[in-house]
Amino acid sequence: MMNKIMLFAILMMSLLLSACGGDSEGDTKHITEANLILDSSHGEGGAAWGLPDCAACHSIAVIHDNAELIRGLVIEKGFVSCTGCHGNNGTDESSSRQCVICHNNSDMPENPIWQGQHGHIFTVGVVADVSDEQCIHCHAASDMDGQFEINTDLTKYPDVLGNIVDYSSEAEFCLRCHNRDHQQTGFEITGSSYDDPLVASEDDFNFIDKHGLVDGSGAATYSGLREAYSYQSIVDCTDCHTMHATDNEKLIIDSSNKGVSQLDSLLRDVPYPVAVADGDYSQLCVLCHQMQVIVDEGAEDTGNGLSGVHDIGSDCRDCHTHGEAAQAGL
Ligand code: HEC
Ligand code: HEC
Ligand code: HEC
Ligand code: HEC
Ligand code: HEC
Ligand code: HEC
Ligand code: HEC
Ligand code: HEC
Repeated sequence: MMNKIMLFAILMMSLLLSACGGDSEGDTKHITEANLILDSSHGEGGAAWGLPDCAACHSIAVIHDNAELIRGLVIEKGFVSCTGCHGNNGTDESSSRQCVICHNNSDMPENPIWQGQHGHIFTVGVVADVSDEQCIHCHAASDMDGQFEINTDLTKYPDVLGNIVDYSSEAEFCLRCHNRDHQQTGFEITGSSYDDPLVASEDDFNFIDKHGLVDGSGAATYSGLREAYSYQSIVDCTDCHTMHATDNEKLIIDSSNKGVSQLDSLLRDVPYPVAVADGDYSQLCVLCHQMQVIVDEGAEDTGNGLSGVHDIGSDCRDCHTHGEAAQAGL
């Protein structure tokens, strides 16, 4: 009862304020299907902006009628979950935004897949799980509609000119940080050498590594792609690297269902394991590559049940690594 009276008073106040000629143009923006983050117009002209106690005004039982996917889960998790999707509502860091409360192995094990000790935790060589704060670095304002869209679900980092523009590919998102001369504040990367992919990714990508660009004549010695692999576009960074969890170092996927997005689900969802030892990446490469004319080790099982690449058992990095054009690169 107390709360209702307070809300009423606040709303009356805000109505009065806006009647007094406040700039109402900028105050009319509402959350939309594509942007759930509250802004300073929250609650009739902004009366609810800055208030941390969502329960004071909202009943969990009557919201989300139009958001079937999330309705039940929000009821189960309660008010601590609100700021995960709707932002901090102008309050400070005090109410940190929750993600893992829902995105975890018991509630949503497939979304994303959470098996493995290495995650993209913004510090190379340290083993730890990805946490709430890190999710938001990459997904500042996801709409949680069950569909992953690069321009809604990935944080918009400024480009080389400092402008916030749409991404034309997912790789562009990675390259906003993985470059040498226009890194993001708070995410500075030094790299262990000049051509460390941590800082050289952008040069490499622009000059050598646009992996999957259809430029081959199809006549090279080991060329050929798996029939179940359809590519209309270049290979994404996350076709080979996963951000969330993997047992492989350098965030290389350890299982086909964590990457290789263009592989037919009949193969992708088997899933085929990917183990890497001493630079032998054959179980990764063989997910997409299957040489047409069998030569060398082309018929040999790479160890995960698939065959079709050469030089199995060798250190592929002697010839194929980011930024090396010498032997057809990576
Ligand atoms: C003082 C009361 C009050 C508090 C506290 C409050 N809200 Fe609201 N909220 C409102 C009112 C009133 C509306 C409807 C106003 C409107 O339609 O513009 C609203 C609307 C919303 C909307 C829909 C906005 C839109 O543009 O469609 C969301 C989402 C929301 N609140 C989430 C929250 C969350 C999350 C919290 C806690 C951080 C919270 N609210 C705290 C009063 C409150
Ligand atoms: C998993 C994400 C998610 C969480 C967590 C979440 N919401 Fe929402 N919320 C949504 C979506 C999606 C919509 C629908 C937007 C639209 O209308 O298209 C929505 C809409 C709303 C609305 C306005 C329309 C309506 O359905 O009534 C209010 C108010 C609201 N949320 C409050 C809350 C409060 C309070 C909490 C915490 C108890 C909360 N939300 C937690 C995703 C979430
Ligand atoms: C907001 C900036 C940012 C974005 C976006 C970003 N990264 Fe990173 N990444 C970093 C930082 C910082 C490190 C750690 C560097 C260090 O410790 O020197 C890192 C580390 C890595 C590592 C090494 C991890 C390890 O433990 O070996 C890989 C691989 C990587 N990122 C790939 C990617 C890919 C692929 C994407 C896009 C899907 C991406 N990154 C997006 C900032 C970013
Ligand atoms: C370094 C950036 C980065 C971090 C950190 C990160 N993600 Fe992601 N996430 C991505 C990218 C890129 C994709 C799209 C490619 C993919 O699905 O792998 C994605 C996809 C997803 C998806 C779509 C589901 C799917 O198909 O895999 C969900 C859900 C998700 N992330 C949740 C999270 C949560 C929760 C966290 C924190 C625990 C988190 N992410 C941390 C970059 C990141
Ligand atoms: C109340 C539970 C809940 C919370 C809290 C929550 N999510 Fe989600 N999220 C969902 C659901 C449900 C989906 C839709 C899954 C589906 O059906 O595919 C989703 C989907 C996503 C997706 C996939 C893209 C999309 O639009 O569907 C991403 C990315 C994501 N969430 C990131 C986050 C991040 C980051 C946070 C914390 C800031 C977070 N989620 C907090 C429940 C939640
Ligand atoms: C997600 C699928 C995928 C994975 C995984 C993959 N590739 Fe590729 N690769 C492609 C596609 C698609 C092409 C383009 C083929 C064409 O041009 O016809 C390609 C082309 C190549 C080329 C030819 C480069 C050029 O410029 O013509 C080399 C070399 C290569 N890949 C090596 C590798 C190695 C080594 C691995 C493992 C570390 C690997 N690939 C993993 C999809 C993949
Ligand atoms: C000694 C150098 C060397 C090593 C080591 C090596 N490769 Fe290659 N690889 C090449 C060369 C050269 C080509 C291109 C042949 C051509 O253009 O006719 C090639 C081509 C390929 C292609 C075909 C890409 C395409 O579609 O044209 C794949 C896939 C591939 N290598 C995978 C691997 C894997 C996996 C390993 C490690 C297990 C590996 N290579 C180790 C030199 C090497
Ligand atoms: C075809 C698979 C494939 C694709 C696509 C790919 N990578 Fe890699 N990446 C690898 C392999 C294999 C390694 C390890 C060998 C090496 O260092 O070159 C690696 C290494 C890295 C490293 C070094 C990590 C460390 O800890 O030292 C970074 C950073 C990286 N990749 C970023 C990216 C970015 C950013 C993209 C997209 C622009 C990308 N990669 C696309 C396969 C791939």
